[in-house]
Amino acid sequence: MNYHIVTYGCQMNLHESEKIAGILKEKGYTEQSSMEEADIIVFNTCCIRENAENHAFGNIGALKRLKREKKDLLIAVGGCMVQEEGKANLLKEKFPFIDILFGTHDLPGFGALIDAARARKKTVISISDERRETEDGISPVRTSYPNAWVNITYGCNNFCSYCIVPYVRGRERSRNADRILNEVAALIKDGYKEITLLGQNVDSYRGEDGTTFPQLLDRVASLEGDFRVRFMTSHPKDFTEDLVAVMKKHRKICKHLHLPVQSGNDRILRLMNRRYTREKYLADLAALRREIPDCEVTTDLIVAFPTETEEEFRDTLSLVEEADFSSAFMFIYSPRKGTRAAEMEGRIPEEVAKDRIARLIALVNSKTREKSAKYVGKTVEILCEDFDEKKNMYLGRDEYGRMGYFRSERNRIGEFVNLKITEANGISLYGEAE
Ligand code: 5AD
Ligand code: SF4
Repeated sequence: MNYHIVTYGCQMNLHESEKIAGILKEKGYTEQSSMEEADIIVFNTCCIRENAENHAFGNIGALKRLKREKKDLLIAVGGCMVQEEGKANLLKEKFPFIDILFGTHDLPGFGALIDAARARKKTVISISDERRETEDGISPVRTSYPNAWVNITYGCNNFCSYCIVPYVRGRERSRNADRILNEVAALIKDGYKEITLLGQNVDSYRGEDGTTFPQLLDRVASLEGDFRVRFMTSHPKDFTEDLVAVMKKHRKICKHLHLPVQSGNDRILRLMNRRYTREKYLADLAALRREIPDCEVTTDLIVAFPTETEEEFRDTLSLVEEADFSSAFMFIYSPRKGTRAAEMEGRIPEEVAKDRIARLIALVNSKTREKSAKYVGKTVEILCEDFDEKKNMYLGRDEYGRMGYFRSERNRIGEFVNLKITEANGISLYGEAE
C-alpha cells in the first residue's frame, strides 16, 4: 500500500506532513512519488491567503478522475483550510469523492479515520474545536535531511487583524522543554546537522517549568555535536535582549533573524494589531546589530492593507531602505473571512495593490542583489542539503539562509562545505568547494 502527500503552505505544514507520513508508515504504507500509483492521497492544505486556497481547490478537483479509475483509492484532505469555518462542508459538497476531512486538531487521530473510511463508504469528517495537548506521540518520517524541524509551540494568541492562523490553529500551546531537548539530542545523534525550532511565535514559548525561549535556545545550542540551530518565527513585539545575548553566546545559532515587520507605517501597524511601532522595530534592529554586527535580518511585508494610502505605503519602502533586510517575503493583503481586517472598509483596488507589490519587490530585490554581490571573493560556509539535477550542482545554505551552489564529484549532502564565492545572482551564490 502506497501513500502520496501534497503539502501547501509553511514549514509548520511541511513538518505536519512528515507526521502524517509517520502515521501512514505505522499503518504499513510506503511513500510513492507518483499520485497515480498511490492507494491514499493526502492533501495538507493552507488558508493564509486566498491564492493558497484556490490552488488546493483546483488540485483536489483534478483527483476526481483518479478516484473514478481506482475505486479503492482513499482521498484525505486536512490542515488549515479544512479547519476554517464552513470550509469542510463546502469541500464535501463540491468534491463528494473525498473520503476523509480532518482539521488541524485531528492529526493524532488520523490513523483511526483511515480505518473508519475503509469501513464505511461515506465521507468521514473530524474537525475538533480545540486541543490542549501537543503531538508528542507521533514519530515523523523526516524528508528534509540534513535539516530537521522541531515544534516548540503550536497555535497563536496574537490575533493580528489580517491573520487567520489563531482561528484555524487555536490557542498557543508550548511543548515540554525536556521533551524538546530529548528530541533534538536524538536527531543530532542520528546525524541531522541543522535543527529548526518551529512556532508561530517562538518568543512566547513558555515551558511548564517556566523555561523562556532564550533559555530553551541556550539549552539546545549547548548540546554536544556538529550542528547549527535556526528558529522561526519571531514577533517584533516580543524581541528581547536575552534573545540577542543567547544568539551572541553560541556559534551554533545561525546569525539570522526572521522578524516580520509587515508595514513601515505606524497607523497601519496599529490597524494590524501588531503592538510595536516603526521606531521600536528599527531601534531593536540597531541593538541587535550593535551586539552581533554580522547578523542578517529577513522579514515579511504586506501591501495594500485596508485604507493604506500611497504615502503610508512609501513608509514601507523607506523602512526597507533603513532596515537593510537581506531578503523579504512580500504579499498583497488578502481578506480572510472571520478576521477583523476583513470587516474593515477601505479595500485597496487590485491595480493599486499590484502596482505597490511590484515596486516593493523591485526595491527588495535590488537590495538583496547588492548584499549578495558583497560575497563574491569571500569564503562562505554552507550546509550542503541537496543536488540540483538541472544545474548539475550541489546546493546548500549559509547560516543567513542564502543559497550556495557548487560542483562536486562526490556526494556532499549533510556536510558543512566552505565555498569560495565566484558569482552572485539574486539570493543565490555560486562558488568552488575548498
Ligand atoms: N494577507 C496577506 N498576507 C498575509 N500574511 C498573513 N495573513 C495574510 C493575509 N491575510 C502574511 C504575513 C505573515 C506571513 C506568514 O503571511 O506577512 O507574516
Ligand atoms: Fe498570524 Fe500574527 Fe499569529 Fe503570525 S503572530 S500567526 S501573523 S496572528
